[in-house]
Amino acid sequence: MAPESRAPERLDRAVIFLGPPGAGKGTQAKELAKLYRAPHLSTGDMFREHVSLGTPLGEQVKPIMARGDLVPDSLVLKMVRERIERPDCSHGFVFDGFPRTVAQAQYLSVLLRQNGYRPPLVVHFALDPVLVLKRITGRRVCKVGGEIYNIYERPPKVEGRCDNDGGELIQRADDREEVVAPRLQAYEKLTEPLVSYYRRLGRLHDVDASKSIDDVREQMLEIVRNSR
Ligand code: AP5
Repeated sequence: MAPESRAPERLDRAVIFLGPPGAGKGTQAKELAKLYRAPHLSTGDMFREHVSLGTPLGEQVKPIMARGDLVPDSLVLKMVRERIERPDCSHGFVFDGFPRTVAQAQYLSVLLRQNGYRPPLVVHFALDPVLVLKRITGRRVCKVGGEIYNIYERPPKVEGRCDNDGGELIQRADDREEVVAPRLQAYEKLTEPLVSYYRRLGRLHDVDASKSIDDVREQMLEIVRNSR
């Protein structure tokens, strides 16, 4: 039986997708969230929505994101707390791009405990930095539904249009070649320490993110199924 046709149980926990920019976290988080009917919480998408709506938070984070730096923890943590306390998160959820600093991870562990969740499952998408540039500069995202494409690896059927809803495919402001290096530096300095942090706690599972999208999906689903 195909994995999709099985009716999976609920996630009943927080699943964290950790890895460098372009590693495939968003692509796989959408798959997992759909399969388990769980919310997909991408802090990057949340900030991009604030930017496109022109909210005060959006105005604050826009220049930070455009130069590839991390948004200050205080702004991230408030937004995340409000989001996971909503009722749709009560049966588990998928974090994509959060936590990103040790302080965010420590805050999250308190927040999860306070809200009655067991410790999170962490999936680490390991990808050599040399592959990051092609993935990022080739990415196109549907303006309507957020579906993720890649002009080299996962092109749409019709150039510039989403297969699902015909929406326009756009390039993210931080996917310009000159922003890739600062994003990678921020990852290596501030986020990569989380790999050993979660590994020490026995929560981390590695995925070889250099493989095909389907292969990575199978590795990821295997981890989730075996970590019930
Ligand atoms: P965010 O949106 O989280 O970006 P990111 O972590 O840099 O990750 P990406 O979205 O670039 O990559 P991804 O791993 O999701 O890859 P994708 O699946 O799209 O954050 C953006 C910014 O917001 C940050 O820089 C920061 O300023 C701010 N921010 C967000 N959260 C924050 C936080 N917690 N704290 C502070 N600041 C925060 O795939 C990439 C491409 O590769 C696609 O084209 C895809 O089709 C393709 N692809 C995917 N998998 C494969 C594969 N296996 N083989 C070939 N191609 C593939």
